Amino acid sequence: MNHSRTLKVGIVGLGRLGRRHAENLMSRVAGAELVAACSPLPAELEWARDALQVPHLYADYQALLAHDGLDAVFLVTPTSLHPQQIIQALQAGKHVFCEKPLSLDLEDCRLVSAEAARHPQLKVMIGFVRRFDASYQDAYEKIQQGAIGAPFMVYSQTCDQHDPDGFFVKFAATSGGIFLDCSVHDIDLARWLLGNPRPVRVYASGTRAIHQDLQQFQDVDNGVAICEFDNGKLATFYASRTMAHGHDTMTEITGTAGRLTVGSNPRKNRLEIADAHGVRNECVPSFFERFEDAFLTEVSTFVDAIRRQRKLVLTLDDATEATRIGIALRESLLSKQPVLL
Ligand code: NAI
Repeated sequence: MNHSRTLKVGIVGLGRLGRRHAENLMSRVAGAELVAACSPLPAELEWARDALQVPHLYADYQALLAHDGLDAVFLVTPTSLHPQQIIQALQAGKHVFCEKPLSLDLEDCRLVSAEAARHPQLKVMIGFVRRFDASYQDAYEKIQQGAIGAPFMVYSQTCDQHDPDGFFVKFAATSGGIFLDCSVHDIDLARWLLGNPRPVRVYASGTRAIHQDLQQFQDVDNGVAICEFDNGKLATFYASRTMAHGHDTMTEITGTAGRLTVGSNPRKNRLEIADAHGVRNECVPSFFERFEDAFLTEVSTFVDAIRRQRKLVLTLDDATEATRIGIALRESLLSKQPVLL
């Protein structure tokens, strides 16, 4: 591909996150041009037309794939649709960026990998956005430089601010539950930061602290898990939907010669408030404010990899492995037993 040519991209899904990706693609990603958008909801297409002036709008995904000259699609659709939509895009000759997780089903992950192998000229990346965050990047590089000796344990949490509207309860119908929806980020981080060890056994538990209505989806609003790897490395995860103070994502990596911590205070900015109650700071309200820069870097990296024919570090095997561990966590939560991998 000609390096100087701008990539023509189409976005599929204009919900909570799709709108953010669309805004980035429209004006902030060098080398990409958002030429088309797809959603089954007329109101979302109207938003794309009115707010972003996206020139071509489609209610049907196959129609978007047939758009003349389209190079790549961005799938920001419900997780249950990801595998089929990725496969359709590859068969139509498009590069694919797809939001996490790759799938809720391991066989589907394998079908996607098999299809991708048939199209080696096309890039596919699943959006594990934290790998593109400056602080996580710094942690990764310091580990590579030996700053904490041999890393052997990761604690990682994804804790959302409590949403009294319960968006995530409805969302649980297609999200795969708290571990596949939230902890899948922490699973990917743990594998990346620990050097891709092989998981051997997991144990998970959880509770419905506030949202009893999650029972209909056999889901919990607070979950904890342990993952053991084959070479004695360990990861522990915590995911929550009920934080009072804000969105609280943090990760701690312990090594034989030190410890790194990312995000122990999920501060909104550098402002500190000192008053009669003490000294404090406000917190980021959602994942988007926390990872706003990383979402842009992630998409720019993907676009750049296509235009400059660079290899992607984040692979479909990584995404498959994250789903495999996430499924095992869910199995353990439901069976109340450890699960061997
Ligand atoms: P959402 O429910 O707000 O949006 C889903 C969108 O998909 C809507 O625009 C809907 O109209 C569209 N859609 C539904 N069926 C469709 C079809 N057949 N064809 C085309 N479009 C269709 O969901 P949200 O929160 O935006 O999540 C979407 C994906 O992004 C999920 O896979 C989720 O796991 C992932 N996500 C990733 C995050 C991250 O931190 N990287 C954070 C939030 C979500």
